[in-house]
Amino acid sequence: EKGGFEHFMMKEIHEQPKALKDTINTYIKDGKIDLSSVGISPEEFAQYHRICIVACGSAYHVGIAAKYVMEDLTGLMVDVDFASEFRYRNPKLSKDTLVIIISQSGETADSLAALRLTKEMGVKTLAIVNVVGSSIAREADYVMYTLAGPEIAVATTKAYSTQLICMYILSMYAAQVRGEIEESALDHMLQEIVLLPEKVASILTDKERIQWFANKFASAHDVFFIGRGLDYAICQEGSLKMKEVSYIHSEAYAAGELKHGTISLIEDGTLVIGVLTQSHLCEKTLSNMQEVKSRGAYLMGVAENGSYYLEDMVDFVVYVPKTDPHFTTTLAIIPLQLMGYYVSVARGLDVDKPRNLAKSVTVE
Ligand code: M6R
Repeated sequence: EKGGFEHFMMKEIHEQPKALKDTINTYIKDGKIDLSSVGISPEEFAQYHRICIVACGSAYHVGIAAKYVMEDLTGLMVDVDFASEFRYRNPKLSKDTLVIIISQSGETADSLAALRLTKEMGVKTLAIVNVVGSSIAREADYVMYTLAGPEIAVATTKAYSTQLICMYILSMYAAQVRGEIEESALDHMLQEIVLLPEKVASILTDKERIQWFANKFASAHDVFFIGRGLDYAICQEGSLKMKEVSYIHSEAYAAGELKHGTISLIEDGTLVIGVLTQSHLCEKTLSNMQEVKSRGAYLMGVAENGSYYLEDMVDFVVYVPKTDPHFTTTLAIIPLQLMGYYVSVARGLDVDKPRNLAKSVTVE
């Protein structure tokens, strides 16, 4: 049942190329975005002025990445909320808002409550869900399924990655129906998105290198993930993966925020992982990495192939293939998923069922 892998988490990490491909092929046909199975018309989509993304855990991290992508490609205002906060904070919603609920299980109590609250206010909902026929899928106005297949490990990997694909496609679609993207730019992005599955597969072929590095840090006390823009979104998911399966304290920080407090935690040997896929922001993150290094941090960097030569400054580097800058989350998260997995295994922990956690959080 684990397809030759020792754990479901590793099996599911390896299922990502197929899950991405299946999701892409469902919503991109003959090189064009096709949301006929979702049922939302281009006219309706074009009329929204604001998008609210509501989710929990990793699905919330998809929302954070999506905010960067959607705001960059469109004129839409995009908010992202934890479902557990949204439902209790008297959110102001108007009819020109579309609320997007993201949930693998479709049964998360807070996400379901947020969906019901939105509907009571007469505002439309679109759900990105993996489990067919789940409560959120049944109750939302529109459903965009992720085609990840069943996900067993508590730590999400392939569902997260397919949720990202759905949000990239919705962002491109919004830009298209609102007339905010040139046809050639859209075509270029559509050509790039279909290449993601094989790029993910190519990163996985080098997993032993990451295992070697993870083994060295299996007894770490703290890990910090830093980045800017979309790289910060990647850091938040990388940090959650690390803490939930390895029980090592970890934090994701917007690199520019370090100086406002967190840098005091850096000691000799503290592992700091810098994510560097956004070329317009990398110089700044690099200088933050330099600052923590001079205070004793041990540095790992995740960067794009051919972008920077980091070996002089960073102790361990993972390069990922180049892609459109909006899609880098899909590639840069892979080494971070592997880090969480290998550290957990090296510590002898139950990687598929970490303590205190459930796959689907159906009570608040
Ligand atoms: O089923 P959902 O996507 O609604 O679940 C949301 C979170 O509980 C989930 O992403 C959780 O954070 C994962 N264990 C993270 O790996």
